[in-house]
Amino acid sequence: MKILVTGGAGFIGSHVAEAYLNAGHDVVVVDDLSMGFRQNVPGGARFVEMSITSDAFTEFVIGERFDAINHHAAHMELRVSVDKPVHDATINVLGSLRLLEAARTSSVGQIILASTTAVLGEFVDLPATEAHPVRPIAPYGVSKRAMELYADYERITHGMSIATLRYTNVYGPRQNPNGESGVIAIFLEKFLKGAVPTIHGDGSQERDYVHVHDVAKANLIALEQRVSGTYHICRNSAASVNDVVAALRAALGNQNDVHHGPAKAGDPARTRGSHDAFTSFTGWRPQIELADGISQTVDWFLQRGRT
Ligand SMILES: NC(=O)c1ccc[n+]([C@@H]2O[C@H](COP(=O)([O-])OP(=O)(O)OC[C@H]3O[C@@H](n4cnc5c(N)ncnc54)[C@H](O)[C@@H]3O)[C@@H](O)[C@H]2O)c1
Repeated sequence: MKILVTGGAGFIGSHVAEAYLNAGHDVVVVDDLSMGFRQNVPGGARFVEMSITSDAFTEFVIGERFDAINHHAAHMELRVSVDKPVHDATINVLGSLRLLEAARTSSVGQIILASTTAVLGEFVDLPATEAHPVRPIAPYGVSKRAMELYADYERITHGMSIATLRYTNVYGPRQNPNGESGVIAIFLEKFLKGAVPTIHGDGSQERDYVHVHDVAKANLIALEQRVSGTYHICRNSAASVNDVVAALRAALGNQNDVHHGPAKAGDPARTRGSHDAFTSFTGWRPQIELADGISQTVDWFLQRGRT
């Protein structure tokens, strides 16, 4: 299949592009390199530097006649979304809508959208299933929810096949340690530079971390099985920030210092998702345990430092 991967120069999109190439597909990556890196684009993929918010992007999608589109390009810095919601919405709402419209015009057979459990807002039921109330509490979650609603509209009204995959906290090789989210990459980079990371609060807050290789596999299965609908992609297994620090220290083989600062306002105590619906439908299961995934991520960061 000829597949467009948007955001394929970023963290998750580059792994998805790689999984598609390994499965024998013809992959085209579109990314404006605002947050991604040219060297993340896997060899074998065609790279086009372009913004998904441009008219040129619409013309490009229609002209190329893709069989499938996997959409990972997004603005995803939560704090920036609070300060500049119009910027966030321009990419996440209007860019995604532009993509859906161009895909419908050119009869793309399968679409996969990267969404987030940030659309849920406060987690009131754990583990959160797809029936969990949706009440996003930051513009980033609102913009991703708007994308989901446009996908629902296209599915219901125009019969498009669209898988909306909501991830919890993704981690692994190539995660940008200079972003504001991604505690594993951020803490790891600080440890490797001899800096002391700050844990907000006592470190007991729990998150559901899923490895990027498991996420890429879910994207491959969503393509192959032509999944349509909204699904949670997660591990249903929560680890605290203190657990993450302990796993990083074990993988690095030393007792790096951490600093405790004030808890962040609005930081939920626990998040955890259920992947039962996606597992029942497709057979996918997360394979990588957190300690193994962290150890493998540490190896990648160390290796990168030597290249
Ligand atoms: N990392 C996570 O834990 C996580 C969790 C839930 C959902 N997601 C979603 O997964 C997707 C990928 O996230 P990531 O962690 O790989 O982030 P990332 O920043 O590494 O990747 C996003 C890519 O999109 C590109 N991009 C941004 N604006 C663009 C534009 N206007 N036109 C073209 N390209 C543009 C960036 O340059 C970057 O390469 C996003 O949609 C995000 O909302 C990520």
